[in-house]
Amino acid sequence: MTNNRIIIFDTTLRDGEQSPGMSMTREEKLLVAEVLDSMGVDVIEAGFAIASQGDFEAVKAIAQVTKRAVVCSLARAKIGDIDRAAEAIKPAKQGRIHTFISTSDIHLEYQFKMTKEQVLEVITKTVKHARKFTDNVEWSAMDATRSTPEFLCRAVEAAIAAGATTINLPDTVGYATPGDITQMFKHTMGSVPNADKAVFSFHGQNDLGLATANTLAALEAGARQAELTINGIGERAGNTSLEEVVMTLKTRKDRFAFETAIDTTLIMRASKLIQSITGQAVQVNKAIVGANAFAHESGIHQDGMLKNRGTYEIMTPESIGLLKSNLVMGKHSGRHAFRDKLEELGFALGDNAFEDAFNRFKELADKKKEIYDEDIILLVDQDAISRSQRIAFDSLQIECGSEGPQIARLQLNIDGRKRMIKMEGNGPVDAIFKAIKALEPVAQECELKLYQVHAVTQGTDAQAEVTVRLEKQGRVVNGHGANVDTLVASALAYINALCKLELLEEKRVSHFSDHEDAAALSVTEAKQIG
Ligand code: KIV
Repeated sequence: MTNNRIIIFDTTLRDGEQSPGMSMTREEKLLVAEVLDSMGVDVIEAGFAIASQGDFEAVKAIAQVTKRAVVCSLARAKIGDIDRAAEAIKPAKQGRIHTFISTSDIHLEYQFKMTKEQVLEVITKTVKHARKFTDNVEWSAMDATRSTPEFLCRAVEAAIAAGATTINLPDTVGYATPGDITQMFKHTMGSVPNADKAVFSFHGQNDLGLATANTLAALEAGARQAELTINGIGERAGNTSLEEVVMTLKTRKDRFAFETAIDTTLIMRASKLIQSITGQAVQVNKAIVGANAFAHESGIHQDGMLKNRGTYEIMTPESIGLLKSNLVMGKHSGRHAFRDKLEELGFALGDNAFEDAFNRFKELADKKKEIYDEDIILLVDQDAISRSQRIAFDSLQIECGSEGPQIARLQLNIDGRKRMIKMEGNGPVDAIFKAIKALEPVAQECELKLYQVHAVTQGTDAQAEVTVRLEKQGRVVNGHGANVDTLVASALAYINALCKLELLEEKRVSHFSDHEDAAALSVTEAKQIG
C-alpha cells in the first residue's frame, strides 16, 4: 500500500451497534457486512466476541463469509477476551484482534484502579498473547486524547514492541478539537522510537460535533487508518461518519492527497440498510445521506443548477449511489430482467434467495403498478431478515372506519402451526397488536416504545415501511415491515421485533461473571452488559 492510501476501518457493527436501540441480529449483521465488503471497506470490526454468545456467533459468521475485508473482533486487555476474539475470527481469510486499555489518569484512577506501570505490563502481556493468533493486532489507548502525552508515548512504544501492527489513538469522550488531534499525532508519531513499525489510526466520537474534522486532522498529521460508522451511528452523539470522511477525501482531492478503496456509489445503499435495520432515520439535513443533502430549493440555486450543475453542486448524487427513483419493472417483467436489476443494485443472491425475492417481487407487482429501485432494495433486504423467523405472518382482514368497531382477523404461523384470532381495538393498529399479543404470550411482556410509518417512494400506492420498537427488561429492538398495505406492514414489523427480541435473548450468555470485576469494565462494556 502506498503511503497516501487510507485504511477504512468500519465499526458500525461494534461501536455503532452498542448504542441504544441499534442492536442487530446475526442475520442483519451479515447483510451489513456483505454491503461493507462490496463497498471496499478494508477492515470490518464485526463485534466484541466476548460480550455475548450472539456477538461471538455474529463475528464468526461474518469471518466465514467475508470475501476481501479483514474481519476484526474487539477484546479488552484480558487473556479470556483475546482467546474468544481469536476463536471468532479464526475462519476469516484475514483476521485482526483489536485489544484496548485506557491510558488517561482519570480512567486509571477511578475505573481501572491500576498504576501506569501495571498498565504497561498488561499491554505487553496481552498484545504478545494476541500475536500468537494473528500477525494483525490493533491496540487502542482508550481515552487517548485526555492522556498525558508522556504516558501515551510509553504505552504506544510498549504496544508496538509487543507486536501491535496498528496503533489507535481514540477520542473516546469526543472532547478533542482538530488542533488537539494534530498535536497528539505529531507528538506521538514523532517521539515514539518504534513508531515507524505500526500504522496509526484515529477513532472519533461526535460529542462536540467535531468527529469528521478531527478524523481529517488525524490523517493530515500522519494517521493512515480512520475508524468510522455508517450514518455516524454510535454511543451518545455517535462516531465519525464514514460517508462524511470518504466523500470529503473524494471531493477535496486538492486538499487531501489520499486514496481509499471505497466504491462510493454504495454509500446510499449502506445508509438505507442501516436506517431500515435500526429504524433510525438520519436527519433530513445530514451531510451526504440526508433527504435534503442534494435538494436545491431556492430560486437562485435552481437557476444556477439549470445553467451548470457545478454552480451549486460540489458532488453528484450519482457518486453516492442516490437513485433517481428509476421506474424499473412491473408485473410483466421476467426472471432475467429481475436478475439483471438485482445485479445492477449490487445484490448477488443464491438460487433459493433469488426465487424468494422473485416471488415477493411478483406479489408486489400485482399490487403496485410501478416498482422502483427502492422497492426492490427493501424487498430483498426484508426477505433476508424475515427468512429465519419463528413466527410468520399468514393473513390479515381488517374492519375499520369512522363508525367502528375496529376489528382485526389475524392468522399467524407460529412454530409451523397456523393460529387464527379475531380482536377488537382502539383503531386497526391497536387491534392488530392486541391480536399478536393474544396469539404469542411473549408479546405480553414487551412494551411498545415506538410505532413509525414512512412511505418508501412517492404516490398513494407506495409501500409503507413500518418500524416497531419493543422493550423487554431493558433490551430494546426495532422490528421492520414493508407492504403496500400499511396495516400488513404494521403486523410484519411487530412480528419482526418480537422475533429479534427472542433471538437476542436466546443467545445472550454472560461471559463476564466468571472472570470479571465489573469495576474494571470500560464505559462501553458496562453498557454492553447493562
Ligand atoms: O471509543 C473508544 O475508545 C473505543 C475503543 C475501544 C477504540 O471504542
